[in-house]
Amino acid sequence: MGQSVLTPMVAFDRRGGELHCGDVPLATLAERFETPLYVYNLAAVEARVRGFQEAFGELDFVLAYAVKANGNLAVLNRIAGLGAGADIVSGGELQRALRAGIVPERIFFAGVGKRREEMESGIRAGIGAFHVESEGELRLLAQVAEEIGVPAPIAVRINPDILSPAFHEYTQTGHASSKFGIPPEVARELYSWAHRHPFLRVRGIAVHIGSQILDPAPYLESLDSVLALVEELGADGIRLEYLDLGGGFGVGYEGDPGLAPRDLAMAILPRLRSKGLTLVLEPGRTIVGEAGVLLTRVLQVKRSGGKVFVVTDGGMTELLRPSHYGGFHRVEPVVLQEDRPEERVDVVGPVCETGDFLARDRVLSLPRPGELLAVRTAGAYGFSMASNYNARCRPAEVVVDGSRVHLARRRETHEDLVRGESIPRWTAAADG
Ligand SMILES: Cc1ncc(COP(=O)(O)O)c(C=O)c1O
Repeated sequence: MGQSVLTPMVAFDRRGGELHCGDVPLATLAERFETPLYVYNLAAVEARVRGFQEAFGELDFVLAYAVKANGNLAVLNRIAGLGAGADIVSGGELQRALRAGIVPERIFFAGVGKRREEMESGIRAGIGAFHVESEGELRLLAQVAEEIGVPAPIAVRINPDILSPAFHEYTQTGHASSKFGIPPEVARELYSWAHRHPFLRVRGIAVHIGSQILDPAPYLESLDSVLALVEELGADGIRLEYLDLGGGFGVGYEGDPGLAPRDLAMAILPRLRSKGLTLVLEPGRTIVGEAGVLLTRVLQVKRSGGKVFVVTDGGMTELLRPSHYGGFHRVEPVVLQEDRPEERVDVVGPVCETGDFLARDRVLSLPRPGELLAVRTAGAYGFSMASNYNARCRPAEVVVDGSRVHLARRRETHEDLVRGESIPRWTAAADG
């Protein structure tokens, strides 16, 4: 579709006062599939993947999409079709990625706590590499590989001791006191051990310093730290195939442009041109964040304690980011109503927690019960962090491409919520 990196595609726009996804009015989707509802614009997802591929096209480049951001099969399948790989953190994500058609060699398995079975299924599937985060993990992986007789490909995830700029400490992963990664000096020894092990195949080096980073500078700092180690490993006779600089590229939650792949490329490419390494990046949020909205319907408008609460049918169970770490999301009426006064409100959900909110202290043209709100930039870490707390059914997910609409995941039912549960035989209820 030839989308330029200079003009990222608008995933949702207003036509005649009505918010649309592609050619489809969001209000019609809410009528058809009910609320709360996730809607993703697949063409916008594709444009963002292509934006990265264009920006880094001069290098051998693999986009390993971070499945944790949004693992819906329809979304993953669109990304797979563009030749992208996947960054995964569990056996469940491995199955999703494979089922969606992602090529195993482009799948990279990260995470500080991989289980033996997950290692085995990754090796058997032929994934690109395990990103090892501790000495114990490396030893266990070697043991599992030896047991099944197939060498395990590895990279070590480096902890470069960089405190990335962040709106919340929970999104920082590259500082020494975080649980992630291995300090360079320790990593050098592990590489040396792995290099000599008959059932480990050293392939690359990885780093991921945090999320929602809007400035290329911390990536440069992280790259320099990793390149210094690549050089040392070269001196030890260990040649690497790829360098994975992680993900975390910031999106425009407040309507700003976010970190453009082109700006990142301009900063880091000069350092990488002569190195002969494949570059792997693991963007999640920036691929799907702006391509998704959460649609909610207003249940009540409640005035209490000097405040105005807009109570909607979506809350922390559908979108955890605001209550988990103060994540900001724009909230807009789906259909603009000219006659509404603006008021300062809290947009809250129905969950029995004071921490259940979607937006706080926000000036909004006051909606009425029954009207629809769109929570923007909810395509990443929305459904994937959704829960069944308060025995709430997780919402449906719909994908749109131009004028085409597909129900990519049906809404859960109350029956789904009790599937797999049972009452012990010895209770009267079960006996009766
Ligand atoms: C190792 C790793 N790679 C990539 C990502 C993706 O981050 P983002 O969605 O912010 O791009 C994460 C996020 O937690 C991660 O832990």
